[in-house]
Amino acid sequence: MFKQSANPFTPTFGHVPFALAGRTDYIDDVFGGLANSPGDPNRSTIFVGPRGSGKTVLLTAITREAADLGWVCVDSSARAGMLSTIARRLQKNSEHLLTPPPLSDVVGVQMGPAGFTRRMRDAHPKDEIACIEETVEYLCEHDACILFTVDEVDATCKEFCDFVDLYQYFMRKDLDVALLLAGLPSQVSTLLSDEGISFIRRAFQRPLDRIPLFDVEQALLETIEQNGREIESDALALAASASGGFAFAIQLIGYYLWRQGSATSPLQTADVQQAIDQAKQEMERSIFVPTLRELRPREVEYLCAMLKDTGPSSTSSIAHRMGVSMTNASNLRRRLIEYGVIREVRMGLVEFEMPLIDEYLRTMDSSSNLSRGSTPLERYQSRGVLPLER
Ligand SMILES: Nc1ncnc2c1ncn2[C@@H]1O[C@H](COP(=O)(O)OP(=O)(O)OP(=O)(O)O)[C@@H](O)[C@H]1O
Ligand SMILES: [Mg+2]
Repeated sequence: MFKQSANPFTPTFGHVPFALAGRTDYIDDVFGGLANSPGDPNRSTIFVGPRGSGKTVLLTAITREAADLGWVCVDSSARAGMLSTIARRLQKNSEHLLTPPPLSDVVGVQMGPAGFTRRMRDAHPKDEIACIEETVEYLCEHDACILFTVDEVDATCKEFCDFVDLYQYFMRKDLDVALLLAGLPSQVSTLLSDEGISFIRRAFQRPLDRIPLFDVEQALLETIEQNGREIESDALALAASASGGFAFAIQLIGYYLWRQGSATSPLQTADVQQAIDQAKQEMERSIFVPTLRELRPREVEYLCAMLKDTGPSSTSSIAHRMGVSMTNASNLRRRLIEYGVIREVRMGLVEFEMPLIDEYLRTMDSSSNLSRGSTPLERYQSRGVLPLER
């Protein structure tokens, strides 16, 4: 191993990578919608995907490009205080268009942007809604267009529901606005079943599926070559296929790969193999363990029952292996699909959606000495993957 120049890969969360792999169809659709009139359905889009599938990055990449095209972009996440964040960012990002700031009337003080920000922190959500509404109307009257993004959607967040109502009002008034949402499958499914904000059901849903391996290869190659190194073609193909097209895994494998080999010779399959081994451990810590911890014991059991198959599993065989009714098994299956861990290949057949998690579960299932005589659940619990009491 040698000391290499700055690593261009970014295995963190929310960081737009050096080269974005795939997602061009979704990006094109959104920009098609922004170029079109306010009624375009692509202007209300929800990105859905498991942890590390690239939701935040996609929102960020789109808003950067939209801001370059002159859109006023306002990012937020669904949590308490989001309305105040939106009001503040809306004000800040449209300062050049607001003269004088129209919001000062609403909160009853006549002051500049800095003063407004201080005042808003204490403001009641009703005032914040009024501020956002008034600013958006003012901006749209002056030919501005506004793109809102809300990450980590959460139907239980009152401020988020209030904001969705407000957005719906903007749409009714035909204002030049757009709203992009992103969330975990479980969050989005709760959202879609919420009667209070049923308007969301009409938004376009875009699942962040695995990225095609061809696109992954392109992104890896671009990142490696444009940062001054080379990679052999079989090594590149191995790195791409080991990522399973999972966004976070692409960055992790790339990151460890960058630390291998020598500066002068191209990266080889042996380097990739080492990088894969290191990346797996990190995937375990940051994706698999948190995901499994969110599941109920019966849901983990369902996954364990799937491990007996080399390809897709039949849902009736799983119910049989678990000794539960088809109805119970299908409830477990629905939740696992919502979590983005498995997917339905076709009616009655499921397979793992999250790459490498089956391999991880298999290792856990067979590696431990604790395995003798204990259930898979107990083994995961004993290894700290699942809490003992649930
Ligand atoms: N299209 C992509 N191509 C390559 N790398 C990507 C892509 N999208 C995301 N990444 C990388 O994947 C990692 C995770 O992305 P991101 O934080 O957007 O995931 P997320 O779906 O928002 O996860 P979470 O649900 O935990 O918030 C980041 O390191 C990012 O650089
Ligand atoms: Mg995110």
